[in-house]
Amino acid sequence: MKTKAAILRSSGQDWQVVELELDPPKANEVLIRFVAAGLCHSDEHLRTGDLPARYPIVGGHEGAGIIEQVGPGVTRVKPGDHVVCSFIPSCGRCRWCSTGRQNLCDLGATILDGSLPDQTFRFHADGEDVGAMCMLGTFSQWSVISEYSCVPVDPDLPLEKAVLVGCGVPTGWGSAVYAAGVRPGDTVVIYGIGGIGINAVQGARHAGAKNVVAVDPVAFKREKAEELGATHSVASAQEAQDLVTQLTLGVGAEHAIVTVGVVGEEVVEAAFNVIGKGGTVTITGLGGLAEKTVHLSGTILTLFEKRVQGTLFGSANPIYDIRKMLDLYRAGQVKLDELVTNTYRLEQINQGYQDLLDGKNIRGVLIHEH
Ligand SMILES: NC(=O)c1ccc[n+]([C@@H]2O[C@H](COP(=O)([O-])OP(=O)(O)OC[C@H]3O[C@@H](n4cnc5c(N)ncnc54)[C@H](O)[C@@H]3O)[C@@H](O)[C@H]2O)c1
Ligand SMILES: [Zn+2]
Ligand SMILES: [Zn+2]
Repeated sequence: MKTKAAILRSSGQDWQVVELELDPPKANEVLIRFVAAGLCHSDEHLRTGDLPARYPIVGGHEGAGIIEQVGPGVTRVKPGDHVVCSFIPSCGRCRWCSTGRQNLCDLGATILDGSLPDQTFRFHADGEDVGAMCMLGTFSQWSVISEYSCVPVDPDLPLEKAVLVGCGVPTGWGSAVYAAGVRPGDTVVIYGIGGIGINAVQGARHAGAKNVVAVDPVAFKREKAEELGATHSVASAQEAQDLVTQLTLGVGAEHAIVTVGVVGEEVVEAAFNVIGKGGTVTITGLGGLAEKTVHLSGTILTLFEKRVQGTLFGSANPIYDIRKMLDLYRAGQVKLDELVTNTYRLEQINQGYQDLLDGKNIRGVLIHEH
C-alpha cells in the first residue's frame, strides 16, 4: 500500500513529505494507522545528526493509532485496538525484560537504524529501503511495526492527547519518580521545560517534592511549569543556584534533572553544582553522540558522595507505565491536555520543529489525515 510520510534523506536537511510504499506485516508485526504523533526533540537530533541514523528514515517515535491488520503469530493486539506505541519495544524475553528493565530491551538495538527486529524494512521509496525512527516512523499515516512496540489502551481515550504517553510523559515523569527517586520534602531542580521537562515537573511534584525549581530561558515555559507544579521558576542556571542556596540554607538540592534540548558540558556542571552532599544528577536529555558532555571534579563526586546517572524512557516499564500514565490522566493527577500547545498537519512538520526550536511549544502534535 501507499502512505505519506515525513522522511530525512540525510542529516542537516529539512523533513520531506513523500509517498512511500509500505509492505504488509510479517510474523509478529502489525499494520497501524497513526492518528497522532508528538514532535519530540529526539527526532530533531536525527535531523541535525546529533543522533547518527541510517538514512533515509521516516521520523517520529511518539505515536498513537489504531491497529488495522496483524501478521502471523500476533497475540498482543488485534484489529481495531487503540494503541499507544512505546519507542522501545519490549519483547518480554531478553535479559533486561525478564529482570524488570523493559526500557532496556535488546530489541531496541536497531532504533536508529530503523529496521524491524528481523533487520529488514517495510518502507520503500523507488526500491530503496527506508527505515523508521525507533522502529515506528510515527510521521507516516500508516506503518508496519512490531507487536512488541504496541501497548493497547482504552478506546475512549483521545489518542491525540494519549500520544504523549508514548515518550514525553513517562520519560519526564519517570526521570523524577523512578530514575531520580524523588522523595517527599526534596528539593528538585529541572533544567529545560519541553515535552520531557514539564513531565519531570509533574513527576517531582507528584512524588512530594517540597521545592520544584524549573529552569528555562523562555518565559512561556516558566509560566507553564508553575501552572503544572513547579514551586519556583528561573531563567538561568545561576539564578537556580542562588535560589537553591537560599531555599536549602546552603545544603543544596537532593536532585537535578537535565531535560534541555541539547545537552552540553555547561548544564551538566550546573546540575552537579546545584545538588548537595548525597545528591543525584539525572541526565535525560541527549546531545551529540560523540561529544563528551560530562566533565566534572571526580574528587568532589567522591568526597560529597554525589551521583550522576543517565535514564532512558524515565527508567519506566512501557507496558505498565504507558497505561498507568493514562490512569493518572483520568484521575486528573497527570495533565495531558495542557501539554499540547499546537497541532500540525503532516505537511507542516518543518514549521512544527521550527516552533519547538523557537520555544513556542511545550509539545507540538502532528494530527494525521487519511
Ligand atoms: N532519555 C530519554 O529516554 C529521552 C526521551 C525523549 C527525549 N529525550 C531528550 O530529552 C531532551 C528534551 O526533549 P524535549 O522534546 O523536551 O525538548 P524541547 O526542545 O521541547 O525542550 C527543551 C527545553 O530546554 C530549554 N533549554 C535549552 N537550553 C537550556 C539551558 N541551558 N537551560 C535551561 N533550559 C534550556 C529550551 O528552552 C526548551 O524549553 C532532548 O535532548 C531529547 O532528545 C530523551
Ligand atoms: Zn521522545
Ligand atoms: Zn526484551
